[in-house]
Amino acid sequence: MNPSITLLTLLEQASGDFVSGEEISRKLNVSRTAVWKQIRKLEAEGYVIEAVPRLGYRLTGRPSRLSLRELLPKLTTRSFGRHVKLYEEVGSTQDVLRELAEEGAPEGTLVIAECQTQGRGRMGRSWLSPPGKGVWMSLLLRPQVPLPLTPQLTLLAAVALCRAIGRLVPLRIGIKWPNDLLVNSRKISGILLESAAEDERLRYVAVGIGVSANLDEEDYPEELRDKAVSLKMASGRPVDRTGLIAAAMEEFERLYDLYREEGFAPIRALWEAHSVTLGRPAVLRTPQGPVEGVPESLDDSGGLRVRLHDGSVRTVYSAELPAT
Ligand code: BTN
Repeated sequence: MNPSITLLTLLEQASGDFVSGEEISRKLNVSRTAVWKQIRKLEAEGYVIEAVPRLGYRLTGRPSRLSLRELLPKLTTRSFGRHVKLYEEVGSTQDVLRELAEEGAPEGTLVIAECQTQGRGRMGRSWLSPPGKGVWMSLLLRPQVPLPLTPQLTLLAAVALCRAIGRLVPLRIGIKWPNDLLVNSRKISGILLESAAEDERLRYVAVGIGVSANLDEEDYPEELRDKAVSLKMASGRPVDRTGLIAAAMEEFERLYDLYREEGFAPIRALWEAHSVTLGRPAVLRTPQGPVEGVPESLDDSGGLRVRLHDGSVRTVYSAELPAT
């Protein structure tokens, strides 16, 4: 038996046609009863398999739930997502990842959950993470960059995710500084970077990524309905969450490699190309009070350079911007 051939690959290779039980049992070198048991196992995982006497079996549906069986063959990366843990429910994937990081997990480790009960966002807010509808995940980075440059990774994450979503969904996605992804001024995704440092040295970064993929209007509380939207609601079609995770890992790894080789300049250029913040007058709510002006560009560490009305430039490192 060829160990790389599984029942699922045989059914997939048939592209929706029937494969006879006899052919399956011959190719897998197992009994017909064993084939039937494997069919039941796949069905229990959410695959829909039609069985017709004398014709055999054919695959007519795939699980809507996330599974490593679906994800792993789709990964094209070297390390990102290769160490991966998938949970049904966690408090926050950030906390699970941090524990793994403290135990020495390698760069690229990914924690995914179908549901978060304590999902958190930036600025101490909570993050809506209902079961089975979104992509709630955390990625571990162990970058060799000086602590003050960590915000560069925030921007890198936004570009990577923007490109990944753009590959799957035909929507115009804009990045609001630093890393909110918007469609028609409504938020579809958020990124939360949490870092651990020691003696001014960055030990690791947990990149928390939330994509509201397949939420329906009724999933959102009233107060979020005009501010947030899911990819499914915006595009009219459900999104393949597994494909999205795989695309995100690929884009992330590619940009991270570029960043390590060439520094922040190419990332900055990509971020600026996707930005819906630059060039638009805004009132930024900073911890030091409101700043009114026109965001012009990014500085070398990822801060936002804002041209004030008196012509001077102020760089902002933490702020809440209006949706544009
Ligand atoms: C934001 O406020 O825009 C950031 C939201 C980040 C949400 C993600 S979901 C996966 C990860 N786990 C969390 O608790 N938060 C992040």
